[in-house]
Amino acid sequence: GPLKLILSGIQPTGIPHIGNFLGALSNWASLQHTANVNDNLLYAIVDLHALTVPQDPRQLRKNKLDMTIALLACGIDPKRSIIFEQSKIPAHSECAWILSCITPVGWLSRMTQWKVKSQQNKKIQSVEDIDSTSGSCLGLFAYPVLQAADILLYKATHIPIGEDNIQHLELTRDIALKINKLYKKDIFPIPQSILAPAKRVMSLRDSSKKMSKSDPSELSRINLDDTPSEIISKIKKATTDSIKGITYDPVERPAIANLITIYAAIKEVAIEEIVKEYSNSNAQQFKEALAQVLIEKLTPVRNEIEKLKIDSDYVQQVLKDGNEKASLLANKNLDELYNLCGL
Ligand code: ADP
Ligand code: NA
Repeated sequence: GPLKLILSGIQPTGIPHIGNFLGALSNWASLQHTANVNDNLLYAIVDLHALTVPQDPRQLRKNKLDMTIALLACGIDPKRSIIFEQSKIPAHSECAWILSCITPVGWLSRMTQWKVKSQQNKKIQSVEDIDSTSGSCLGLFAYPVLQAADILLYKATHIPIGEDNIQHLELTRDIALKINKLYKKDIFPIPQSILAPAKRVMSLRDSSKKMSKSDPSELSRINLDDTPSEIISKIKKATTDSIKGITYDPVERPAIANLITIYAAIKEVAIEEIVKEYSNSNAQQFKEALAQVLIEKLTPVRNEIEKLKIDSDYVQQVLKDGNEKASLLANKNLDELYNLCGL
């Protein structure tokens, strides 16, 4: 078939958790083997998106390096995939401006993530409000347009995403259609999603919330660099219920269902198989087995993370090379867009 350009992004949140791993990174790594040899793969550290919430500059810089390290440790090979920093390619912001000039405000105000976040956030009313506290800034409202620019700038055709990003990709498709129609030219391919095979991973402490870096409880998540004893302790303390045995029932037993989901995703086997295997076990026995499965999977990742942490020159070089390669693709397409617009 025609060449694919596969592109996805992740925010620089430091060393990621198993939610990011199962919902994104492990899929990104597999695509390197399942895609055609000539297909392009681009993976962005989307640091401009990170600025939509308050950031400590020093911490952000460290988190960017740590996320890059995690990508490498998860098996993303810089010889096969372009790993790059969004902010180092000014064309992202430039393209976003052009797109923002044809995106109706109504399309953005309909975005579920905006509706939820803007209700949670306090309003920024004066200069004094712009401090370390979270508020709704213009960037938070407009960031789906920057996300569209991230994708369209490379004429990406396939986008690995989690289910929480489907609506934003739909917006990107609408923007691409609108531009193509406006300039009577198929400048942008209409990108398709590649949904991660794994379901959403929920918090270990509250199975109504997704596992997230922003959760104040460290016990709510397993990070890719957790030690075996941390993994054992966090899984031991994970919320369960008082029902006997191991059954998969996401409605009545969401906490156990989440642990089964994690087990199945890590082992890449069907949920039914796990349930069958542990039908005679109690929650404690199942948790012990899950901890072992996680330790087995994450130990090589953690070792690689530790190795890369003491080789920051190499990691910086990976980004530098990736930024150069991404710039070439981006600038060519931005020129074409500027030309069409009469700039
Ligand atoms: P987003 O704000 O789009 O969720 P993040 O940087 O927080 O971006 O997450 C990066 C990737 O990890 C996304 O593809 C997202 O879908 C995935 N992800 C994050 N948390 C989870 C989770 N708890 N379970 C499954 N996937 C997750
Ligand atoms: Na998130």
